[in-house]
Amino acid sequence: MSGTPEIGIGLVGYGFIGRVHTLAYRMLPMLYDPFPARIRLAGVSAASRASVQKGIEQGGYAYGTTDWRELVARDDVQVVDCCTPNHLHREVLVAAMRASKHVYCDKPLALDLAEAREIVEVARQTGVKHQMTFNYRFVPAMMRAKQLVDEGRLGRVFSFRAAYLHAGYVDPGRPMSWRLDAALSGGGALVDLGSHALDLVRFLLGEFGSVYAVTETFITQRPVPGRPGETAPVEVDDLALLTVRMASGAVGSLEASRLATGTNDELRLEIHGSDGALRFNLMDPNWLYVYDAREPGAPIGGERGFKAVETVQRYPAPAALPGPKATAGWLRFHAACQYHFIASLVEDRPPSPDFVDGMKVQEAMEAAYRSAREQRWVSLPLDV
Ligand SMILES: NC(=O)c1ccc[n+]([C@@H]2O[C@H](COP(=O)([O-])OP(=O)(O)OC[C@H]3O[C@@H](n4cnc5c(N)ncnc54)[C@H](O)[C@@H]3O)[C@@H](O)[C@H]2O)c1
Repeated sequence: MSGTPEIGIGLVGYGFIGRVHTLAYRMLPMLYDPFPARIRLAGVSAASRASVQKGIEQGGYAYGTTDWRELVARDDVQVVDCCTPNHLHREVLVAAMRASKHVYCDKPLALDLAEAREIVEVARQTGVKHQMTFNYRFVPAMMRAKQLVDEGRLGRVFSFRAAYLHAGYVDPGRPMSWRLDAALSGGGALVDLGSHALDLVRFLLGEFGSVYAVTETFITQRPVPGRPGETAPVEVDDLALLTVRMASGAVGSLEASRLATGTNDELRLEIHGSDGALRFNLMDPNWLYVYDAREPGAPIGGERGFKAVETVQRYPAPAALPGPKATAGWLRFHAACQYHFIASLVEDRPPSPDFVDGMKVQEAMEAAYRSAREQRWVSLPLDV
């Protein structure tokens, strides 16, 4: 293995997604063959000593601390992976970049647009490499969709319909958490789920032009954990419904909901163009549904209709495991996103999606919240 660079990971936040990133780092050297680096799980930071200990014992990190600044200062950490609640992203990322660490950040980039702009400016000044975890760009079906759109296979794109639907907050007994606290999350369903859908729409269809949004909080009080009988007000959206005009002239709708009864992890995208259409649903991730309007439509429908393209798990080399015919899955998409980052470091090229992409999504969310508050269309980019 001599000559293979070693990359030390310092992970901040060992909660749900911190464990997912850790598992992906551990799998990467087997999922990709050859794998271009040796990943060293150098250190982990979490809010509680118990979580830090879990990171060491379960995650396999060599070192742990409740003070993330210690982690950022370590010489054996080359990458800081930010998996904290949203309000900490700016502080962690700025400190890490100022310490010349490359940075990988789960969505959203920050709490608001002002913070996102600051992060992008520090990234520019320091010249470190930066990537967002917009993991759905790394679903093979979405990778193929991007190729088809870029090749002009849909013709002129007229419209789209995007939705990211969860049901996890339907129960009014679900207690308060950082995700339901605007000061810690920056927003509700739009930030949590809509950020992914906005990124995919922008990835495939280009820049946003303007937005009109309606947001709704259906369950306005929730129990405070550890204080029986006590509730606290919920100020973030359970649902956000956006009408979006793209800079290209295409128009579409985008819905983010955590109260969509009957759904699990339903990220849907439909795009309609003059020459064709695309459909995707994360709950059916093996297939990209493609409609080619140039196929003969007669007699009796001819050969025209949505075709299920078998994108399945057809990652390009050096992807090795699981094989291309094995069913596609959520964890593998995260691993592909992280592989892209690590490969970009080794090959010294800019990773994508980067913090500018994160900032553009932040800007669209800020425009949407402004629109919902002021009940008017808001144009992008935002001046302030
Ligand atoms: N891309 C995805 O699929 C996806 C999925 C879930 C969450 N996320 C994002 O990941 C981030 C974390 O979400 P989560 O679900 O893992 O949350 P979580 O509540 O499960 O975990 C948060 C972790 O941050 C740690 N933390 C809090 N304060 C800290 C501090 N001062 N120093 C060090 N660690 C601290 C906590 O100890 C905990 O381990 C959020 O930005 C969220 O939007 C992304």
